[in-house]
Amino acid sequence: MKIALLGCGTVGSSVVQLLHEQAADLTARVGAPLELAGIAVRRPGRERPDLPVDPKLFTADALGLVKRDDVDVVIEVVGGIEPARTWLLEALGAGKSVVTANKALLAEDGAVLHDAAAQSGADLFYEASVAGAIPLLRPLRESLHGDRVTRVTGIVNGTTNFILSAMDATGQSFTEALEEATALGYAEADPTADVEGFDAAAKAAILASLAFHTRVTAADVHREGITDVTATDVASAKAMGCVIKLLCIASRVDDAVSVRVHPAMIPRTHPLAGVVDAFNAVYVEAEAAGQLMFYGRGAGGAPTASAVLGDLVAVARNRLTGSRAAKESAYADLRVRPIGEE
Ligand code: NDP
Ligand code: HSE
Repeated sequence: MKIALLGCGTVGSSVVQLLHEQAADLTARVGAPLELAGIAVRRPGRERPDLPVDPKLFTADALGLVKRDDVDVVIEVVGGIEPARTWLLEALGAGKSVVTANKALLAEDGAVLHDAAAQSGADLFYEASVAGAIPLLRPLRESLHGDRVTRVTGIVNGTTNFILSAMDATGQSFTEALEEATALGYAEADPTADVEGFDAAAKAAILASLAFHTRVTAADVHREGITDVTATDVASAKAMGCVIKLLCIASRVDDAVSVRVHPAMIPRTHPLAGVVDAFNAVYVEAEAAGQLMFYGRGAGGAPTASAVLGDLVAVARNRLTGSRAAKESAYADLRVRPIGEE
């Protein structure tokens, strides 16, 4: 099973490490060895001495790598809309399986990617795109299909949760905490995406699309980030027995879906108040299941690579057995509430 890896930064290099360290187990689980056909990066000549791979595998020609006849699976961990969209549409159009962590692209053009996958019969998996290591999308996509989800509430951005936790616990400044989150590999290439809530809004759109079987894009999400949250706000919340968290809330109201991301003050006794550092947690409320809570590491190289590899094993097995993932269910005729209607 030949893999094209697009991107070898925080997440991509952890994927390479895990593929190497777990080669024997992965081969046993899939039923065939998984082999890197090539690794596309921006700077192929850059030394990467810690990575257990042949430097000849690196290339700047991502599209050329995707088009190679011997490539079965494309893993995209570059990020951004273009050229990632072009690469993934090329891969799906050629019937190659795709695994991606790219929430920005999925929240903007998920429907186009799903349609391309449906046309060619290829698998499109993206568990790593929301809440890092936490198995969350597969349960929404498959396990809860017999139920009716009514609401999804969560902390889905590790960087902002790290910053707000540091401001609350140690009185660290916003800027210092952001620098630390960036150094730890949690922040996006442009951390504006984190602190202004764009990243959480993209994840909220993906969650709402899966939970309510409808098509929600990032533009449908009411979004406020944490840049206006001051040390005084954090201290005032603390004095009232509360904590400030950046929440994503997606709910079903009659025939409509409402999705929003904004800072919220919650009591310290609330289960989400105990979610600190770069951890994420998501509550799912469903009519028959009741309340479910998903919790774990939401950002960072190794946790995200864990989700990528889980998807890789699934798509590789599907290719070997000739099966494919459950199709996206038929879309419900739900209206997405315009921003400001509430
Ligand atoms: P990084 O910035 O660390 O890595 C990006 C990689 O993409 C680098 O290897 C870079 O090359 C390569 N790259 C950039 N532009 C191009 C290009 N035009 N052609 C080929 N390669 C290119 O990002 P992350 O690893 O942090 O994130 C990757 C993806 O995973 C993003 O979609 C992100 O949102 C998502 N994600 C990240 C998480 C995290 O905790 N970091 C968690 C969950 C999802 P070079 O090495 O030469 O610079
Ligand atoms: N920048 C993202 C975060 C990475 O902080 O949550 C994980 O998606």
